[in-house]
Amino acid sequence: MAARSRTSRDRSAPAPDSAAGDASLHVALVMDGNGRWAQKRGLPRTLGHRAGVEALRRTVTAAPKLGVRWLTVFGFSTENWSRPAAEVQELMALPKRYFDSDLKRLEREGVRVRALGRREGLSPDLVALLEEAERRTADNDRFFLQIAFNYGGQADIADAARRLAEAVAEGRLDPASIDETAFAGALSTAGLPPLDLIVRPSGEQRLSNFLLWEAAYAELVFQDILWPDYDEASLAAAITAFRARDRRFGGAVSDDVLVAG
Ligand code: FPP
Repeated sequence: MAARSRTSRDRSAPAPDSAAGDASLHVALVMDGNGRWAQKRGLPRTLGHRAGVEALRRTVTAAPKLGVRWLTVFGFSTENWSRPAAEVQELMALPKRYFDSDLKRLEREGVRVRALGRREGLSPDLVALLEEAERRTADNDRFFLQIAFNYGGQADIADAARRLAEAVAEGRLDPASIDETAFAGALSTAGLPPLDLIVRPSGEQRLSNFLLWEAAYAELVFQDILWPDYDEASLAAAITAFRARDRRFGGAVSDDVLVAG
């Protein structure tokens, strides 16, 4: 049975318009392999990261054509701070590199940008840049691009727990009302539809602290391509693999699968 793109759970974001067909998937991407891509060419890692920005541009253009309406990408993890200072500096410069060339087009083409993760620890200039991208695209709803930056799944869960605990301590929240829905609403991903698919290129097969809560029923696809080489065909292959999955969300195996053995 083909994978169902919509689950029985409600999606809080708007329904796709008719022109977008069944463009309703929420896909997350770990943009991995920039360093190895550069190394293979005898280039500094910085050039791998810059080539990674080009791959992001290609992927954002390709995604809506392939039925994706929400794309969440891992730009910088809370663990990436442990990299050499010069590399951290380069990684911090990538959002500016991307938005300088692409923000006008994203704005014009109906893409809503949202930054996920902690703002604390980022420079005021970078926070202002991310907030400007969010503000300028706030009315868009054709496609949703989430950039996880200074993001860690465990940190996001800890931050959500702290926010809920503060609300309880201040008498604004009844502890009995904290359930999965309330908890999800305190995460930096609040309001996003359930995650359908996590794709990781570069041959590594782990989540690396990306979207731990949100991954609960996401399908995982790992690909042997380095991120700077990623293109429309790569994403199409990942989505083809996803569509062949039988998503049961903990429910029973369907009769046709049982009959087929
Ligand atoms: C991991 O590859 C990649 C990163 C830490 C950075 C990814 C970011 C981008 C591709 C561009 C982001 C753009 C925006 C707008 C934020 P790696 O360097 O760890 O690769 P390796 O495993 O081969 O060393």
